[in-house]
Amino acid sequence: MSFKERVFEKARQNVRTIVLPEGDERRTILAAQQLAAEGIARPVLIGDPSSIADAAGKAGASLTGVGIVDPADSPKREEYAGVLYELRKAKGMSEEEAGRLIADPMYFGVMMVRQGDGDGLVSGAVHTTGDMLRPALKIIKTRPGIKVVSSSLLMDFQDKEIGHDGLMVFSDCVVIPCPSDEELAHIAISAADTARTLCGIEDPKVALLSFSTKGSAEHELVSKVRSAVRIARSLDPALALDGELQLDAAIVPEVAALKAGGSPVAGKANVLIFPDLQSGNIGYKIAQRMGHAQAYAVLQGLARPCNDLSRGCSVGDIVMTAALTALQAAGSIKQP
Ligand code: ACO
Repeated sequence: MSFKERVFEKARQNVRTIVLPEGDERRTILAAQQLAAEGIARPVLIGDPSSIADAAGKAGASLTGVGIVDPADSPKREEYAGVLYELRKAKGMSEEEAGRLIADPMYFGVMMVRQGDGDGLVSGAVHTTGDMLRPALKIIKTRPGIKVVSSSLLMDFQDKEIGHDGLMVFSDCVVIPCPSDEELAHIAISAADTARTLCGIEDPKVALLSFSTKGSAEHELVSKVRSAVRIARSLDPALALDGELQLDAAIVPEVAALKAGGSPVAGKANVLIFPDLQSGNIGYKIAQRMGHAQAYAVLQGLARPCNDLSRGCSVGDIVMTAALTALQAAGSIKQP
């Protein structure tokens, strides 16, 4: 069974409600149809029911088993606006602004997830990463003990000798441009959790990457990675985590033996933590385009799962992201 099939199978065993705020978008509607028909999730499209029905008609999609919620006449609108106001008033939001923002499908959808009326959210076929992330950061916030929201790319290699049966987790490749040492440590802890929850890697081996291995170079960038390793170890002393390591020392046993003997991670890392967004984003795209890996992006560190799509996404990408969101929901936090 492929990784994708395993994810779908697991999602079917514990069907979750997935909110899709871009409700009248063609690919989103086709994905909702597939999610419902194949029992992978209970999809809920947000938007004006007549626009959604119109778009579904044009796409030739059936809406059987697909929920539709219209923020404009939802009985929850007032309650959600009140919660939004309470959450943001200290930051200067007025009741009027909260009432206006909650009519936006993205804010409404994120609030549904916060309030437990949905288990997770997927968007990004039309909106940018920031359009979805900002409401999620403001309304759902981070999991207890985790300071930042970041991302992991689940890399599924054809060569099953790589990583854990062909799977590796790369992080952060989407969210935090220049993480501090503390943020890098939190990214590492979150990525290990993602490896367990979504990839079935029960004993993640986490390498914090650099252009130096164990003191082979000295630079402030290297010192930051070393400091992140110390912080991450204090956050989770039981986790197999090491750094700073060059990529080859992290994944090639022969290089590890030469450069990082005795490391519990070097030579067998299955979770790679990149020092910044440029290296992370470039790194995953090299593995995807030149290493022919399938790459699936998820956000991590939110108290309840919200995930972002690329605007060039296919229907299949939306279905897979919804299934991964459903798996993340199993370990999510109930909001106070
Ligand atoms: N984790 C937790 N909280 C955060 C984070 C984070 N990573 N970033 C911002 N916040 C908080 C802020 O503290 C603030 O909280 P407050 O309002 O309660 O005080 C709130 O979220 C909103 O912050 P803003 O300042 O409005 O947001 P910011 O301008 O920092 O933008 C964003 C955040 C959107 C995540 C930004 O970091 C970003 O654009 N990152 C890059 C995303 C991107 O373009 N990636 C490209 C790759 S996409 C791809 O390859 C698929």
